[in-house]
Amino acid sequence: MNESVTITDNRTGRSVDIPIVDGGVDSAAWRKLLGNVWFHDPGLATTAATSSSVAEIDGDAGILRYRGYPIEQLAEHSTFPEVAYLLVYGELPSEAQLDEWVYEITRHTFIHENFRRRIFDAFHYDAHPMGLLMSGVAGLSTFYPEAKDIFDPDNRRAQIVRLIAKMPTLAASAYRFSKGLPFMFPDNADDYPTRFLKMMFDVGGDYEPDPALVQAMRILFILHADHGQNCSTTATRVVGSSHADPYTAIAAGCAALYGPLHGGANEAVVNMLSEIGSYDEVDSFIAGVKRGEYRLMGFGHRVYKNYDPRAMLIKTAAHDVFNVIGKNPLLDIALKLEEVALADEYFVSRRLYPNVDFYSGLIYQALGFPTNMFTVLFAIGRTPGWLAHWNEMVEQDSRIYRPRQIYKGAPKRDYIPMAER
Ligand code: SDX
Repeated sequence: MNESVTITDNRTGRSVDIPIVDGGVDSAAWRKLLGNVWFHDPGLATTAATSSSVAEIDGDAGILRYRGYPIEQLAEHSTFPEVAYLLVYGELPSEAQLDEWVYEITRHTFIHENFRRRIFDAFHYDAHPMGLLMSGVAGLSTFYPEAKDIFDPDNRRAQIVRLIAKMPTLAASAYRFSKGLPFMFPDNADDYPTRFLKMMFDVGGDYEPDPALVQAMRILFILHADHGQNCSTTATRVVGSSHADPYTAIAAGCAALYGPLHGGANEAVVNMLSEIGSYDEVDSFIAGVKRGEYRLMGFGHRVYKNYDPRAMLIKTAAHDVFNVIGKNPLLDIALKLEEVALADEYFVSRRLYPNVDFYSGLIYQALGFPTNMFTVLFAIGRTPGWLAHWNEMVEQDSRIYRPRQIYKGAPKRDYIPMAER
């Protein structure tokens, strides 16, 4: 089969054959043939903004692999620091490499105490933790000015380690600030999820999270670790493409993740389930969705036109958590919503399935996190993915992102003095 496309400019009759390589066609031939004719692609739904080796997603088959490894296997066998290493460096670490990586991360969990105490004091007590996290990450860039030297690989590693290490400390501090609780220092004798849960919930020094809860956090962090060129990773790449430092680029990732159409969806799902209120109200809610009055949050995906494999794994993890701490009453409403939607032509015809956010919030809520912390948890998990893409982009020495536009505004016109308006 001729793996190519032919584009013909009917104004001139000139054509060009463009080979289809790795599922894409190169825009250079388009530019050569069509000069100032731009490919109009709102939301970049049809555009590959880059090539990447970090994550592979097959939306039709419902497949997600990190550097070739199926997430089902990583969720079962791996740890979050090991997955973070895999995403950033492309290979599973040897035992020595993992020990060194975990040691480095563990040694960088602290945040300058002046900064941690003072930055949050600038906010109201009830400020949304995502606003605190985003501000904290951006502020950290001022503590590590050397991070601007992005083409030094050792320097990139140092900043990558710091960000993976400090996100949980920042996140837990944002929560403690909102509750008026004293900040907890990270206990470096603990593993990553345990250390985070203790910084979040320990009050008297005697808190030991149930192993099933630690297991759930491990799985949730791993499943959120990367997802290709999603909105927040694209934001990280866009900001990083200007050669800004990694803290600034990751703060941009946090900003994009905050939106309810993206990482804010897990919070929106639980708010939606609470508003539905009861199993019996599900059918009338679905009717409202079909009338276009609101969206079924936690459903649908730009890439997955099948069941999001992460949603399946999170649904299983939810049952394990509920077996330990009791079932979240909202689960029955969620299960009914899924059952009704998956049997309804409106959702089937639009290939809308549960995504990663549909069940994750139920676990977070059962673990004791307030809904406004859910997106913060997503950000902790996604940080290695953002950093892996930032690192890949720097190594690729990618061009600065600067798309074109189709101008639809006013033609040239002269200034009108106020007296004549
Ligand atoms: C994440 O990209 C990633 O990889 C993201 C993510 C990651 O790991 O980084 O997977 C994480 O962000 C998951 C998505 C979380 N968001 C939500 O759950 C919010 C609800 N879902 C949507 O708003 C929507 O599905 C998006 C934003 C996820 C995808 O939007 P698209 O691809 O732009 O799809 P669309 O808005 O063009 O919708 C296509 C059709 C429309 O109907 P018509 O206009 O053709 O009649 O499907 C409808 C939409 O109205 N539709 C929905 C719907 N999602 C799409 N209708 C009801 N409920 C929904 N949730």
